[in-house]
Amino acid sequence: MKEIKIDTKILVFNSVEELFKEDQDLMKKAVEVRKNAYAPYSKFKVGAALLLDNGEIVVGSNQENAAYPSGLCAERVAIFQAGAVYPDAKIVKMAITAGATENITTKPIPPCGACRQSIFEYEFRQDLSIEIYFMGETGEVYKSDSIQNLLPLTFDKNYL
Ligand code: THU
Repeated sequence: MKEIKIDTKILVFNSVEELFKEDQDLMKKAVEVRKNAYAPYSKFKVGAALLLDNGEIVVGSNQENAAYPSGLCAERVAIFQAGAVYPDAKIVKMAITAGATENITTKPIPPCGACRQSIFEYEFRQDLSIEIYFMGETGEVYKSDSIQNLLPLTFDKNYL
């Protein structure tokens, strides 16, 4: 028997104002698009903004459905849109913000497990780490240098 220890690293910023200007601007895009979330069931709105290596910004918000599992998270709406429109571009950074409509979300909201796996597919495919910034509506912003900090022991096509 042996034990494997897995290290992970997250940087914590006190607020969005502590980020570099470029990252603040990306988070602002995520905040703007969060308003477009279609979340009548959960009343939890999420916005995501991606910066691509061609300079384009691609955004997404969560889109729910009366048949609940048919809806999609903001992060996957954004990355699938990037893959659909700019298939050769690499995703450099991703900013995520989330908030419940009935109270102010002050804690960073990390991407769900399915989104982590989907983001990893893109990171693996492009062979470039994706910086991920995530926050609630206000308060601390967490930064991960790669999706692998949030999803250790990743599953990729080499296992197939
Ligand atoms: N949601 C996201 O958009 N991203 C996540 O990573 C977590 C959850 C959405 C899905 C659903 O519309 C609502 O938040 C509540 O789960």
